[in-house]
Amino acid sequence: MKYDFDKIIERRGTDSVKYDLLNPVFGSEDLLPMWIADMDFEVPDFIREAVIERVNHPVFGYTYRPKRFFNAVASWMQRRHGWELKSNMISFSPGVVPALNLCVMAFTDPGDRIVVQPPVYFPFFTSVTNHDRELVYNQLVEQNGQYEIDFDHLEEQFRKGAKMFFLCHPHNPVGRVWKETELQRLAELCVRYRVLVISDEIHSDLILFGNKHIPLASLGKEIADQTITCVAPSKTFNLAGLYSSAVIITNQELKKNYDRILDVVHVGGGNIFGQVAMKAAYTHGDDWLDQLIGYLEKNYALLCELLGSSVPEITISPLEATYLVWLDLSFLGKNDKELKAFVIEQARLGLNDGPVFGPGGEQHQRINIATPAKVLEEGIGRLSDAVLAAG
Ligand SMILES: Cc1ncc(COP(=O)(O)O)c(C=O)c1O
Repeated sequence: MKYDFDKIIERRGTDSVKYDLLNPVFGSEDLLPMWIADMDFEVPDFIREAVIERVNHPVFGYTYRPKRFFNAVASWMQRRHGWELKSNMISFSPGVVPALNLCVMAFTDPGDRIVVQPPVYFPFFTSVTNHDRELVYNQLVEQNGQYEIDFDHLEEQFRKGAKMFFLCHPHNPVGRVWKETELQRLAELCVRYRVLVISDEIHSDLILFGNKHIPLASLGKEIADQTITCVAPSKTFNLAGLYSSAVIITNQELKKNYDRILDVVHVGGGNIFGQVAMKAAYTHGDDWLDQLIGYLEKNYALLCELLGSSVPEITISPLEATYLVWLDLSFLGKNDKELKAFVIEQARLGLNDGPVFGPGGEQHQRINIATPAKVLEEGIGRLSDAVLAAG
């Protein structure tokens, strides 16, 4: 079956954060929203049908996750990433950010040092600081839009006594899929210094241009024993509003402690429709996902072609995964406040402002290209027209 990603869906008036909160967030409703990480594509039919079937049973009482739910997650991980899991290695979270917070609560104490790699998805910061843990930056190193890990600096932070490390794999917003050699090096350091890794692999199904995602914990038993991996169908199948994700913990001692905190804060129950959607996605989603990946690759090529010809001064980071593209607009010579105002007032776009991603985010903007090509063209046109008009 061929899926239609060109279809334009009216999302205004659906209580959508992306569309209906433009005014409170950007101070204007008259913007093209290309921010926050959800897609403008419709959820595939096999997921909607599964949810409708459940809706048609008229009682929505307390629900547990049956074995077939865990089997669906394990089968997906095996099919898409070649990672063999048993169902007793899989737990739950009502979202990946909640899982980060639960891990901080379960496995660290106030004052403990937790390392993150900015520029990075900003809730990583508050997941540390909201619990009075110490945020430690291991800033990525950039050259012409290509980002690498500063391993020497990372080791120094570990040597100084970091307790936990948040890995963003693939990395939002810089678009990297960490390679096996990089992951091996990371694993070696984490094992040597006994740093517990929370590997946020929420974008790992959206791997583009022949790159390969290797789950960090699949590298070997030693690193698996100290890694907690967070995955979800939310980015992949556009289900963010259903708040359901899987937390993979092969070390049963760690898993017991994670499950305990899930119980303590009483969020382990989940949402009936979330689990139905997740099972349907992970059971039937391969063909749809393969087509989505093809569409995202074309959209990225379109962005590079159109922006590259109209405003070649913009540095576009290579996109190895997902649909969030990192743009360096420093050539405009504007400070961060001016750049933010320029994007809103001149380009009439709602983008994610670079500085919120922490050090390294200055003079950058993040654009979401998971939208029909026509909408993307409109967005690119607005940005290039604004730049050209600014002279
Ligand atoms: C790296 C990363 N982790 C987590 C999330 C959000 O996860 P959730 O909505 O499941 O809390 C996002 C959303 O953009 C993300 O990019």
